[in-house]
Amino acid sequence: MSAQSSQPQLSTLQPHFDLAGPVYRNPGYSQIRDRLNYLIEQYLSPEILNQNLNDLPQQFTQPKPRPWGSIDWKAIRPDQIIGIDPQLFLCVVASSVEIEAPIRAYSLISRQYLAEIHPAITHFLSGCYDSEGQLIEMGVWEKEERQHAPAFRKIYQQLAGEDSSPTPNSIIELPSSGSVVKDAYRHSLRRITTEWSAVAVYLWLMAHSTGALQAAIAQPLQDEVNHLAKFWGISRWGFQDALPQRCAGMTRQFAHLFGHHRDDRSNSRSVFTLRNLSYGPELGFSYLRILNQLCHWHMTLNNTLLYDLFGPRPFLQPSLSSNSHSPSC
Ligand SMILES: [Fe+2]
Ligand SMILES: [Fe+2]
Repeated sequence: MSAQSSQPQLSTLQPHFDLAGPVYRNPGYSQIRDRLNYLIEQYLSPEILNQNLNDLPQQFTQPKPRPWGSIDWKAIRPDQIIGIDPQLFLCVVASSVEIEAPIRAYSLISRQYLAEIHPAITHFLSGCYDSEGQLIEMGVWEKEERQHAPAFRKIYQQLAGEDSSPTPNSIIELPSSGSVVKDAYRHSLRRITTEWSAVAVYLWLMAHSTGALQAAIAQPLQDEVNHLAKFWGISRWGFQDALPQRCAGMTRQFAHLFGHHRDDRSNSRSVFTLRNLSYGPELGFSYLRILNQLCHWHMTLNNTLLYDLFGPRPFLQPSLSSNSHSPSC
């Protein structure tokens, strides 16, 4: 017997653990599903969702971005990709760079829809501009989001050994319905859907990675969970929509975004192949399991709790006039 076989590797005797639970070298669907479930319990527990939402009123008065844990960029290696074609993993990372890139444009669109409805959430998202339209103070959401594209770009560089050449996502303007409130509601569902999608995809990348690579993705992931909980909760308070209405609206937004990214992303042809269809059930599970978690949490967001956090609803005391010559914060 060789020295190698007389001292078997620890990992062949028992699984070792990472942020997604037990690590498998060649995980199948059920093991990836277990890892996704584990990640959702760790990163989207009701306690974490509540903490993120409860923090929002404080952000209105004392805005402060969520600090990131340290990332060991140099320790990120291709062999930390597990159970997936590494080329597909890289394509998804490159697409994340593109989708995260035009963050200022996203924040200005939110400003356009929400400024008249709720100045405080508008300030959280897109900050404060002077009467000339110059930025005075960046919003916390924008500060957090603008770290994501560079982070995924660095991850790509470490894995591929070269820079990606991203084409930033093109911005979609939705036609107005003629109602400020309806447009704001639809935009809020769009924001929630983009945060939900980011959480679902980043969790799926974490299920297919380990080590420093997985730990790096956990940082933007936690920002997205934070935004998702905040936007979900405050829109529940503001619009008082029924859960089926919300889920139907999110599904419409998701279908629209899916079609847009299929046409707009640089590497769509490499992602949407017959061979990659086998990963569809995993991603589908990630989206639906997260939505299920949010729907259960939604039931706990009663009117008393939301009133204590945010006060009376804005549409009961609408103030829809704006003065474009004043600084808008
Ligand atoms: Fe992001
Ligand atoms: Fe986000």
